Amino acid sequence: MKNSKKAISKTNGRGKLQLVAKADAAAKTAEHRKVVPLNERRLNFGEKWKYAPAPEDNKYIKIAPRHELFIDGKFVAPSTGKYFESLNPATEEKLTEIALAGEQDVDLAVKAARRAYDKTWGKMTGRERGKYLYRIARIIQEKSRELAILETMDGGKTIKESRDVDLPLVAAHFFYHAGWADKLQYAFPGRNAQSLGVVGQIIPWNFPLLMAAWKIAPALACGNTVVLKPAETTSITAMRLAEIFQEAGLPEGVVNIVTGAGQTGAAIAAHADIDKLAFTGSTEVGKMIAKSVAGTRKKLTLELGGKAANIIFDDAPIDQAIEGIISGIYFNQGHVCCAGSRLLVQEGVFPTVIKKLRDRIQTLRVGNPLDKNTDIGAINSKPQLEKIRELVESGVAEGAELVQPKCELPAKGYWYPPSFLTGVTASHRVAQEEIFGPVLSVMTFRTPEEAVERANNTPYGLSAGVWTDKGSKIFKIVNKLRAGVVWANTYNKFDPTSPFGGYKESGFGREGGLQGLAAYTRLS
Ligand code: NAI
Ligand code: MG
Repeated sequence: MKNSKKAISKTNGRGKLQLVAKADAAAKTAEHRKVVPLNERRLNFGEKWKYAPAPEDNKYIKIAPRHELFIDGKFVAPSTGKYFESLNPATEEKLTEIALAGEQDVDLAVKAARRAYDKTWGKMTGRERGKYLYRIARIIQEKSRELAILETMDGGKTIKESRDVDLPLVAAHFFYHAGWADKLQYAFPGRNAQSLGVVGQIIPWNFPLLMAAWKIAPALACGNTVVLKPAETTSITAMRLAEIFQEAGLPEGVVNIVTGAGQTGAAIAAHADIDKLAFTGSTEVGKMIAKSVAGTRKKLTLELGGKAANIIFDDAPIDQAIEGIISGIYFNQGHVCCAGSRLLVQEGVFPTVIKKLRDRIQTLRVGNPLDKNTDIGAINSKPQLEKIRELVESGVAEGAELVQPKCELPAKGYWYPPSFLTGVTASHRVAQEEIFGPVLSVMTFRTPEEAVERANNTPYGLSAGVWTDKGSKIFKIVNKLRAGVVWANTYNKFDPTSPFGGYKESGFGREGGLQGLAAYTRLS
């Protein structure tokens, strides 16, 4: 009896509480509706969803005031005696000085790579090479937090991306290629896969460590030695990688890292004792490199720019597609060669897509890249910011409408808010040229045939996206797209097993998977 009384009063109590809570919620909803009328409801939750600052601690990260060249297993001063600064683009603070390698240094690096190829690496069994690659992969995993923070500080990308996307993929690339090192005869059955010799590799600033891994891991797995040049704004993590090679006991000269800008890159491309050249960067520089290599014995792979179409059919799951559009163009501040930078929307769903996109970009957080909640970090450099601004201005001058959320940008550093342009036509510069920033050009289409025609109407052909709930439509469209990588109902997904590369002015050759391995071997 006593017990049941207690139970009743308890229930009553809870009931009352629930009622109060319901009344509260109703009041709050009413209040919310008062601010934002139902017919123009936005994903705007006012202060309710405001995130507390969550900065990644970088106080323990030590950056040497100077970084030398890594040649023949040692850190050496450049023959030029010159150094250049590397900045944190989010604060404009100088982080360190980086050695400027001249022709003489490049020559020393190539000679060291040749010696290592002839004496150690080229002769080693695949099984032994694989052990080194596994060791490197494991050290990268151990140091991944530190490397992620450095990547964010030097390049401006968000810690969320460098920690959760870049670093896991860097380790995965070394693991994947470690596995192939002693199995090349299975990768190319019935054929004899031989190494090429000394490989020159030039990489860009948008995924500094990941591009280094994409280049170095397959080259080493196949028995080649390397001279690598990181991009001038993002060399710090490449030099940490050099320390990791030392720690892993990689024989001296197997990987040499020379830092500098375009001239240093050109010296690598022009060196007579390079057997293969691999370049990732702008189409403009890619063309120059192709010219300098023409008529020589050098093998060449080029991974250049892109202007990918992200195609939304009217039967697509729209909310998922919106997330795909967001990650397609705003991931890594849009500094992505395969970014879904041209949005093609079927006319029937155009108003819905634009409304939802407008709402969604309002919720993206721009600012301190070291904050774990930041969605869009700093633009990599001042020249890149100027390029984005100039192209967007040209778009507006040519008649497009610019949509940008209201957001406060930090006073220092290089920033650009997530933006999109509507009313873009195929002839506009913003529909043809790579903006390489968080700016989307939106166009419409009526029929699948028109979507394909518009998607292919570009000098590039690196990637594309297709959103529809019909599998048959996916296969039909994908086969007609002149793009090296096509994502269906997703975007910007990467994996070391999956080959990546382009058509037309996006370059040639593939990286990743078996095709990527083939690019570092001579098959007989
Ligand atoms: P870039 O092509 O000049 O730089 C990429 C790499 O090439 C860097 O390491 C650079 O030092 C090196 N390089 C420059 N000139 C060279 C030469 N003559 N010979 C050999 N190596 C050379 O790209 P940049 O100037 O940093 O960016 C300009 C535009 O290029 C961007 O706005 C973007 O549109 C595009 N880009 C595309 C990338 C991609 O992954 N597809 C990556 C970087 C830039
Ligand atoms: Mg920097």
